[in-house]
Amino acid sequence: MSLSSASAFAILGTGSLAPDRVVTNDDLAKLVNTSDEWIQTRTGIRERRLAGPGDTTTGLAAGAARAALADAGIDPAAIDLLIVATCTPDLPMPATASLVQTALGLPSTTACFDLNAACTGFVYALDTAWALLASGRYRHALVIGAEKMSSALDWTDRTTCVLFGDGAGAVVLGPAPAGSGIVATKLGAIPGTSELLLIPGGGSSPLAPDAPRHIKMKGKEVFKFAVRAMDEVCRDLLTPRGLAPTDVALVVPHQANLRIIHAIAEYLELPHDRFFANVDRYGNTSAASIPLALDEAGKAGRLRRGDLVLLVAFGAGLTYGGALVRW
Ligand code: UT7
Repeated sequence: MSLSSASAFAILGTGSLAPDRVVTNDDLAKLVNTSDEWIQTRTGIRERRLAGPGDTTTGLAAGAARAALADAGIDPAAIDLLIVATCTPDLPMPATASLVQTALGLPSTTACFDLNAACTGFVYALDTAWALLASGRYRHALVIGAEKMSSALDWTDRTTCVLFGDGAGAVVLGPAPAGSGIVATKLGAIPGTSELLLIPGGGSSPLAPDAPRHIKMKGKEVFKFAVRAMDEVCRDLLTPRGLAPTDVALVVPHQANLRIIHAIAEYLELPHDRFFANVDRYGNTSAASIPLALDEAGKAGRLRRGDLVLLVAFGAGLTYGGALVRW
């Protein structure tokens, strides 16, 4: 199945970075009342990377970005737009993007800002960067998803602390080689659902000055939303273009739970191996999960020129989003 038109901007390179420290399920079973068996059966996670004393969201983001720039063969001086998707910035201000700009030595003409759509953040940032490139005002964008989720976890709460990890992934967007490019994106958010997944404290709200500064989640409700929303967004990207799920060479979904990934595979009637998964080794790295998975998929030879690749995510908000890309 061919597409009627290819967009003018493509992912030119990818990169990722995760902290060195590997924390296994057995390690966590020493902290909270859990087990390797429970975590693996319910989530597919075996281990995750957690930040050491020297690791910051900025440092992880900059490392992933350097790798993406090298992969794309693009000089940092050519980057005129930098978006960092994160819900765990180093500081309330300035934006992590400004800190990353300094770390990378990007020029003063680079527009730099953060974007928070939680775990859907990378897809939101990709859509935003694509639109800004298409406006003609920018030429090369660096889009990063970076998180230090360990800073937002309650290490006594077994229902959340076993699920997340730290890391970063980045892509460089620029003028597309013939035949490749971003084809379509779709974003959305469901009003009235913020209490299902949130960090209640740490912001400026006068309503909850002493609220906890770590993640609270109603996991079962989020699970059901995730499967329904990601199935819908995949179909909304494919069907109007005369495409079927079987036309997609690889789906790179948000890495939250292997059961969620397998459930979408069943809904779309695709084999499990059509989905890239590395949640077993990283856990849920929120906005970093898709670019980190994309980078690993590329290095594993799973992204071939001309392939149709589908990125799809869900997260706090509740938000959802997808991007269809001709590799
Ligand atoms: O990027 C967005 C982030 N959010 C998500 O991805 C969350 C989506 N939801 C999920 O992935 C799943 O709902 C979870 C993995 C969070 C939970 O799996 P579940 O199959 O929905 O389990 P549950 O919440 O129904 O809990 C089943 C049992 C409960 O015990 P009881 O009430 O049946 O006695 C929990 O207390 O498992 C217990 N439990 C645990 N046991 C051992 C919850 N967490 C743990 C744990 N270890 N870590």
